[in-house]
Amino acid sequence: TAIDIQADDLDLGGHQHYMYKEIQEQPECLERMIRGRLDDRFGVSRLDGLNLTPRDLRGFARVKILGCGSAYYAGQIGATMIEDLARVPADAEAASEFRYRNPIIEADTLYIAVSQSGETADTAFAVEEVKRKGGRVVGLVNVVGSTIARACDGGLYLHAGPEIAVASTKALTNMAVGFAMIALALGRVRDLSNADGQRIVAALRALPKQVAAIVEAESQIAEHAKICADARSLFFIGRVRGFPVAREGAQKFKEISYRHAEAYQTSELKHGPLALIDEELPTVAIVPSDDLADRNLAAMQQIKARKGQVLAITHDDVDFGDLDVPRFVVPRSEPELDPILLTIPLQLLAYHAALILGHDIDKPRNLAKSVTVE
Ligand code: G6P
Repeated sequence: TAIDIQADDLDLGGHQHYMYKEIQEQPECLERMIRGRLDDRFGVSRLDGLNLTPRDLRGFARVKILGCGSAYYAGQIGATMIEDLARVPADAEAASEFRYRNPIIEADTLYIAVSQSGETADTAFAVEEVKRKGGRVVGLVNVVGSTIARACDGGLYLHAGPEIAVASTKALTNMAVGFAMIALALGRVRDLSNADGQRIVAALRALPKQVAAIVEAESQIAEHAKICADARSLFFIGRVRGFPVAREGAQKFKEISYRHAEAYQTSELKHGPLALIDEELPTVAIVPSDDLADRNLAAMQQIKARKGQVLAITHDDVDFGDLDVPRFVVPRSEPELDPILLTIPLQLLAYHAALILGHDIDKPRNLAKSVTVE
């Protein structure tokens, strides 16, 4: 199977690390993900591989996404997109928990299993549990012909190509885009208008160039990596659409820097974690240009007042006023898709911190690319 591919078998293309190469490859991976799957005229996605008719799509009352690690966080990003665009209740759960809690399987729930390798044992078991109880499950999987891909009733391949670095980058980005396309399909058989559909389709088509622009601005993010690498502990904060981004950012950071990185909802800071803020605990804040921007700014002010350092991942039209905080600006997408672009600088931040610390970036200690046993 594809997970047996040895790192040495694949060309590094002059790059020092697979993780770096995989970050760089993302624009072309995104092109492959959307190719042939978007209909500009009707503002919808064409996802024949799901094996779901429009009537099937209309019949689902709920969506449950199952995955582990970064795939689980991609699922959280996806659940928000599905609720935003299709107004269908959606959530993501760690497949590693789901499989052990005798889950209630509902006939009108669409289950989505998400996995880069398609071989993660916890996710594969969760799929079996859904199927054994008569549920409908589709896969969002990278490796063609993998266990999970074969077990599902249908699915979408991620077409990200082999991902070698343990820390997922290009696969995760394509997962998020896959969820956006599923959200579009669910939305357009409901109340999402043709115009809104077209708006999302156009935004999906714009992503590859926007990701390329972020990757090109790498040196700006690298500047901030030193502070993060020096810290023993960091917070990643965001709210609503930004929270799963923060969770994924913290995951990536801890995987390869071995630093304690914890994600919080920005709104929850004042309910506890603010007690930990001092000059030694930096915070990475996800601050998109949305109607929560003012509240996010207020939270950053509170952190600054306690001498905490903040790095904001933000958009160019967020008005920081006199708040003096270093910023990394990402291009705007449509608001529902902003999380896709907001995660990219966090990959680069983790990469550069691990580089400074001299860690084995592609093969971090204690971790496997794919956990195929319990
Ligand atoms: C392992 C890796 C994680 C990865 C997770 C899910 O735990 O260390 O980086 O996100 O598996 O892998 P999958 O192949 O199912 O996406």
